[in-house]
Amino acid sequence: MRTDSGQIVRLEDYAPSDYLIPRTGLTFRLGNERTIVVAELTIERRDGVDASVPLVLDGDGLELISLQIDGEELARSAYEASSQRLVIHEPPTRFTLTIETAIAPATNETLMGLYRSSGVYCTQCEAEGFRRITYFLDRPDILSVYTVRIEALKAQAPVLLSNGDPVERGDLDGARHFAVWHDPFPKPSYLFALVAGDLARVSDSFVTMSGRTIDLGIYVEHGKEKRAAYAMDALKRSMRWDEEVFGREYDLGIFNIVAVSDFNFGAMENKGLNIFNDKYILADRETATDFDFANIEAIVAHEYFHNWTGNRITCRDWFQLCLKEGLTVFRDHEFSADERERTVRRIADVKGLKAQQFPEDQGPLAHPVRPRRYREINNFYTATVYQKGGEIVRMLRTLIGPVQFRAAMDLYFERHDGQAVTIEDFLRVFEDAAQIDLSQFSLWYHQAGTPHVAVKTSYDARRRSFSVELEQSMPPTPSEQRKRLLHIPLAFGLVGADGKDANFTSVDGGTVSDGVIHLKRRRQVFRFNGVNQKPVLSINRGFSAPITITSNANAEDRQFLAQHDSDGFGRWQALNDSLLSGLIAAARGKKAPVTAVTTLLGNIAADESLQPAYRALMLSLPTDADIARELGDKVNPDAVFAAREDLLAAIANENAATFATLYQAVEGGTRFRPDAASAGKRALRNVLLDYLSKHENSPQRAATHLSAATNLTDRFAALSVLVHRFGDTDEARDALANYERQFGNDPLAMDKWFQVQATAPGFATIETVRTLMRHPHFAITNPNRVRALVFTFASANQTAFHAASGDGYRLLAETVLEVDPRNPQLAAKLATNFRSWRSVDAKRQALARKALMDIASRNGLSPDLRDIVERTLT
Ligand code: PHE
Ligand code: ZN
Repeated sequence: MRTDSGQIVRLEDYAPSDYLIPRTGLTFRLGNERTIVVAELTIERRDGVDASVPLVLDGDGLELISLQIDGEELARSAYEASSQRLVIHEPPTRFTLTIETAIAPATNETLMGLYRSSGVYCTQCEAEGFRRITYFLDRPDILSVYTVRIEALKAQAPVLLSNGDPVERGDLDGARHFAVWHDPFPKPSYLFALVAGDLARVSDSFVTMSGRTIDLGIYVEHGKEKRAAYAMDALKRSMRWDEEVFGREYDLGIFNIVAVSDFNFGAMENKGLNIFNDKYILADRETATDFDFANIEAIVAHEYFHNWTGNRITCRDWFQLCLKEGLTVFRDHEFSADERERTVRRIADVKGLKAQQFPEDQGPLAHPVRPRRYREINNFYTATVYQKGGEIVRMLRTLIGPVQFRAAMDLYFERHDGQAVTIEDFLRVFEDAAQIDLSQFSLWYHQAGTPHVAVKTSYDARRRSFSVELEQSMPPTPSEQRKRLLHIPLAFGLVGADGKDANFTSVDGGTVSDGVIHLKRRRQVFRFNGVNQKPVLSINRGFSAPITITSNANAEDRQFLAQHDSDGFGRWQALNDSLLSGLIAAARGKKAPVTAVTTLLGNIAADESLQPAYRALMLSLPTDADIARELGDKVNPDAVFAAREDLLAAIANENAATFATLYQAVEGGTRFRPDAASAGKRALRNVLLDYLSKHENSPQRAATHLSAATNLTDRFAALSVLVHRFGDTDEARDALANYERQFGNDPLAMDKWFQVQATAPGFATIETVRTLMRHPHFAITNPNRVRALVFTFASANQTAFHAASGDGYRLLAETVLEVDPRNPQLAAKLATNFRSWRSVDAKRQALARKALMDIASRNGLSPDLRDIVERTLT
């Protein structure tokens, strides 16, 4: 294992490799303690490279057994080998290099390279895990055609899988057997995968647009086959959608997915063999919430869409990560919007962006979507690369419109299929297809930080003109001190008294087209002429740009938009702004007038013309973390919590009768269906449950809700109310005990049990979490368990994590240090929860800093963790 501070890698140092590996043959002799890997690499020196240039292959923790060139053992003087590198001096121009190495899957807890998860051999190679399997040019611009032979004990691993199509299988001596797979599409090493174990296959098929039948398989633990049905359906819908919306057809004869229980991320798009965290495959009404179902659909789609955006066209180097991730996030967001309800999905995605990406962009870990340097690439799988990267693609579509967008994407696939490319290549496609200049727009990729736009409007009744003054600014971030001006596309409407968008005859001051204001200079005044009545400006509709906005709109304007904007997203945004401004004032100790907004929420709840899912979103108050982010600095989480509870009570008390009637009327549903409309009803009823329980100040309604629940969504909602609001009652204690009895043997369902306890407000939860870490169902080696309990505690429990004693910070620091020697990536991810430490009050800051220093002062930290901790402290 590497424990050093890591070298800085710079974009400007990129150089093409001196050698290429057009073909890769791999043989695995699988064994728990010791697996033998024989790599047969066809290697070529690139034209024009001097014969004296050595071949330098990457390795990580490898034991070299033997080495041959064209079948001949290599002399000791001809090479240098360490566990990290293999250097071959003066190799021939074109040759076959045979490398035999040994690795130890059973003791690999990093979950990178080849490891064991609940008795199954599996691999994870992105970003630099392939070098833990064999010596290789482990970089994404080395594309190779793979043939893989797997040998294993038949009883231990009846299923043997790799990328591409199956070629051959048969028996061997000693109760062993083998399988050979061949993937005809040249691919980078990070997309290699192998799975071997005793798994059940759920099979189905899909007929593509050109009439080819694809064999589909989802592999799960025996006995869990039924729980893969939803994922299979999502897969088929994804395949159809990509054909219809992007014209992309699947290219191999078989597509397999494997669900494993130990996995660092959500899932991985290995060519023809996606490997998933089982949390994002397994679902039924008792073990997955509606939120989980929606995530499964989105992630199955995301990984499938990577087949074209990531695999057929991949990244030249890891600085270009957003080339595949941002684009694929955009695609999966669009898929979910089409499959579910567009406005509801957009609001959910924007809430996610604000909750995860904004704090990253506004803190010490801020980095551009296309970074220029890194110490540890694992730490760049961030909300910025993924989500803000997705938002940039969305803005490109806003800029050129859907028709030209599709033409540009067609050109991208045509021009770059089979290549490893850059963001510059991607942007050039859009410039060529739409005949535009994106040089200013491209800064979105290169500058970190959340842009801010200040808006001032005024109406001149005599001249019948409405002017909108916009000023953009961006605070400095660690990556750039001085920021250049961005091209910010702002979708808008001038909302008239009747709620319809008012017309205007002309605009002065800048470009406005198809409902979008193009802000390009620091300050621009757009004057709309021929506006007959004073309108209210609805701006950044649909969150057309990922920015923050302040404006001179007053409380009445916001409430008017919250009721009347013709744009559903605009209504939600206006309501959210209203709620936040009241909450902020209250958290700062100023008493805020709340009546208008409480009445408004009652009306929205009862408005049958609105979808239940939409009403549920409108009724969900900003979280403690949302409020803290808006406050910006000197945050006291206890004051934030109190402000939110007061507002909740005020809304509940004023609307108790309406809410109670509605709670009865929204059908609970006898037959569970996971579709968006059914989920929307559950969401509405569950948010009402919280309000009503607050108003009634009794656990009774939640206890009844719980005993009537026929699915985890309702059960989890009731359990949350009981544990968070009435934690010291028998009802809450019984509910937790019953749940544990009922679901104790299901790890994914138990994660919800950990989660609900980790989010109980108040410092006492720190002790609860410590106790739960010793629970038999908890495992420090399993990322899902650690995320459910500790990550959730640190990210979604402001009052406990930021407890004035500093104990919450200490708990996180201790856990980070316990995880780091086993799983550096997980430790580093956990540690990112310290990123907003400078925004809390001075006393808490000192305690958070001390916890961070405790980590930083240790010797032997992984490069992943050291990188996060040091950047967080600077
Ligand atoms: N490439 C994966 C995805 O987003 C994420 C991932 C990265 C998984 C690194 C594992 C390791 O689809
Ligand atoms: Zn991805």
